[in-house]
Amino acid sequence: MCGIVAFVGTRPASPVLVEGLRKLEYRGYDSAGVAVHAGGDLAIVRAVGKLSNLDAALAKAPLAGTVGIGHTRWATHGRPSEANAHPHVSGPVAVVHNGIIENHVALRHELEASGVVFASDTDTEIVAHLVSRALAAGAGSLEAAVTAALGRVTGAYAIAVLSKTEPDVIVLAKDQSPLVLGIGEGELIAASDIPAILSTTRDVVFLQDGEMAILRRTGATFEAKLRTVSGEPVTRAPKRIDWSPAQAEKGGFKHFMLKEIHEQPRAIEDTLRGRIDLTAGDVVSQELGLEDAIATSIDRVYFVACGTSAHAAMAGRYWVEALARVPATVEIGSEVRYREPVFTPRDLVIAVSQSGETSDTLAAVKAARAGGARVLAIANVLDSAIPRASDGAFYTHAGPEIGVASTKCFTTQLAAMLMFAVWLGRRRGSLSVERAKSVLEALTHVPSLMREALEDDASIRLLAKRHLKARDMLFLGRGIGFPIALEGALKVKEISYVHAEGYAAGEMKHGPIALIDDAMPVVVVCPRDGHFEKTASNLAEVRAREGQIIAVGTKGDEELANLVAKHEGDLVTVPPSAPEVVHLLTVLPLQLLSYHMADLKGTDVDQPRNLAKTVTVE
Ligand code: F6R
Repeated sequence: MCGIVAFVGTRPASPVLVEGLRKLEYRGYDSAGVAVHAGGDLAIVRAVGKLSNLDAALAKAPLAGTVGIGHTRWATHGRPSEANAHPHVSGPVAVVHNGIIENHVALRHELEASGVVFASDTDTEIVAHLVSRALAAGAGSLEAAVTAALGRVTGAYAIAVLSKTEPDVIVLAKDQSPLVLGIGEGELIAASDIPAILSTTRDVVFLQDGEMAILRRTGATFEAKLRTVSGEPVTRAPKRIDWSPAQAEKGGFKHFMLKEIHEQPRAIEDTLRGRIDLTAGDVVSQELGLEDAIATSIDRVYFVACGTSAHAAMAGRYWVEALARVPATVEIGSEVRYREPVFTPRDLVIAVSQSGETSDTLAAVKAARAGGARVLAIANVLDSAIPRASDGAFYTHAGPEIGVASTKCFTTQLAAMLMFAVWLGRRRGSLSVERAKSVLEALTHVPSLMREALEDDASIRLLAKRHLKARDMLFLGRGIGFPIALEGALKVKEISYVHAEGYAAGEMKHGPIALIDDAMPVVVVCPRDGHFEKTASNLAEVRAREGQIIAVGTKGDEELANLVAKHEGDLVTVPPSAPEVVHLLTVLPLQLLSYHMADLKGTDVDQPRNLAKTVTVE
């Protein structure tokens, strides 16, 4: 969604703001703007479209000030346009905002009735008017005026506010939208996500809901004062982020997505590090953030997630049932609120979210806790909203994922869920030490097997070239191969804009088989995972309707190779592995296939149209 950067320093602010915004491009946006204090005034530059348009506008009107705010907007209220781009201005005040002001209609009517003329269709402009009015009414300081304005609004927000009346101050506030503060050497920066501040500093403070930060320059001194909106002082020591700036860059790959696909072996190593005790055949409890007693006090595991994370959750369900023998269910985050779901204290809800900020998943977490359920978050972003709203958090440690289409976050979620299932199974006595050891050991081999699987990148590009004209694709899988098929189809849809459906292989004859003809590539996920014989039979059914087979199987599987050759299909393989972990590998060729199709088509791989990385609206 939208991105915010705010800077107080001694060097020109606008290059820092634009560089920070560039690091937030992955969040999705359709316009951008900056406001900088300049010679007693506020200079504002905004542009529709990519940041290069803002760059061009800034090149025509360079800004010299050293205190400023910047924003990338992903339209929610009002179409993408320069007038709707942030910052929004009222009197001496400029505001950037991420989130949604829920009572915007009532406030707009009230302000219009008292003579305010709006320059945009946005909910954000309301905040600018409220702050400006509070100043005019004698609030006494920008900090006091922002506090007064926040007392009027409800909803989700992260805001950064400037006022001509205080040229050395930025006031920030947040509720339900992320905001992180960076403490640099003689400068302060804030942003909606870590990559935007890494080239300035690695020392960060995560603002919590209901908190404000007042960044102030007094001569050569820089101060960041934290307080709650209701006025209590907050003291929080900075945390050091170990993501290097280079980690947030493309590292020589053409796109972030490709880099992130190739980073998966390292990401899985980081996810596993320090969490597996091979001698005991167990997972280290402290890492899960849940007390052991929960394992035996629950009757059900209820996964909630959206999109790719929901596919990972579906795999989690298979593992929890198979290894821990606990009934498990998966619900899409956006549907929970329409289900009137029944949660009880005997439920363990697992909220899976790479960003940790997805509004639908967060709402489900709140509903679950209200029903008395315990909640475990599986998330990638430290201290994000979902882990904070949960009883425990199991972080995936994949590092920043910049490509909008999730890849390394997906496979690290799979690894985290398999570890969780082992932890649960061991505590419930349903998983023997020997079996646990063999599953965990298989997991430790995944990074090296992934490295081997990723060596096929060039041949998968050729495969993508052969199927580039496809208008529709079908992905089939059985067992955990089913969520992998769903994930493969989602990746193709998202970035190459080819219509693709994922189906349980057993469902093929209940409908989608009608779609198959000689123009339809059908990807069949059929490694040696215990379901091979049945899934392989789908190959013949597809070929009988002249579909073009792309089989994803196990390297060295002669039977599959012969079958695929007989049906004139394509074969992609992954190295042999234990059945429990094989689908951490089968998804890799599907990610690569979607990537190369998109790249060959020339789409905007890292920022596909209409998509946002972090979906903080309903
Ligand atoms: C697809 C993708 C999305 C997200 C979904 C949930 O590639 O990334 O489907 O998985 O928007 O996001 P998180 O995991 O942040 O809750």
